[in-house]
Amino acid sequence: MSGAPTLLELRGVTAGYAQDIDVLRDIDLRVEAGRITGLIGLNGAGKSTIIKTICGFLPPKTGTIAYEGKDICGIAPHRLIDLGICCIPQESSLFPYLSVQDNLTLPLLGRPKQFADKTRTRLQEVFELFPALHEKRSQPAGSLSGGQQKQVEFAKAWLQQPRLCLIDEPSIGLSPKVSEEVFVWIEKFAQAAMGILLIDHNVRRVVRMSDRICVLSLGRITADGTPADFEGDLHRQVQEWLGLDF
Ligand SMILES: Nc1ncnc2c1ncn2[C@@H]1O[C@H](COP(=O)(O)OP(=O)(O)OP(=O)(O)O)[C@@H](O)[C@H]1O
Ligand SMILES: [Mg+2]
Repeated sequence: MSGAPTLLELRGVTAGYAQDIDVLRDIDLRVEAGRITGLIGLNGAGKSTIIKTICGFLPPKTGTIAYEGKDICGIAPHRLIDLGICCIPQESSLFPYLSVQDNLTLPLLGRPKQFADKTRTRLQEVFELFPALHEKRSQPAGSLSGGQQKQVEFAKAWLQQPRLCLIDEPSIGLSPKVSEEVFVWIEKFAQAAMGILLIDHNVRRVVRMSDRICVLSLGRITADGTPADFEGDLHRQVQEWLGLDF
């Protein structure tokens, strides 16, 4: 892609929820350190299934998933954090009855000691970046607005200091202004040398901010390119890639 180290590489991955039905077919996908790989596709194309497969919720039937050059197939989802992989899922991952601060620090329990100091500094950063979270740190996370809950998700990810962050539909249900804030945080994550796999229905924004864009259609990657490849009539191109009549 660009000479940056490859963090994540899927090769020939086929996966599905039933033995005889493949939702993902022969997927090749790469995420590099400090770069954003955007993944776009229609509802039901299999985008979230790719993340579930990477995270170990769904074992691939064929193919390989390598992270920092090592096979991670079969690794339990709760162990990903130890490897430096973090996921911000399409659905909320917060415990609504726990406080904001407990939600933020929960994934850090049991982490190595050298993590503690850096985490304290990061918690300060998080509260400076998201003053509303500082103000509401003792409140149940479920009492926050949708946009503020999304802030908690991103703040939680930032605290975990991942090297790879998988982000599924972060702007769903948010106002245009809050959505734009979300995209700016993602850019900040990439600037901090994280590799990002970004799925979002805001195709134009994904194309603009990604270093590489993959189009997923009916479980297959049908197009793959840089933002320059997507110049021109994006609407028409995406329609073609998705095999839609217009
Ligand atoms: N737990 C499950 N059990 C069985 N089938 C599932 C499950 N989750 C998803 N599917 C099916 O797999 C296909 C891909 O779903 P997936 O959620 O990956 O799509 P998506 O591209 O993320 O869509 P969206 O844009 O709506 O989030 C769909 O046909 C869906 O019905
Ligand atoms: Mg999805």
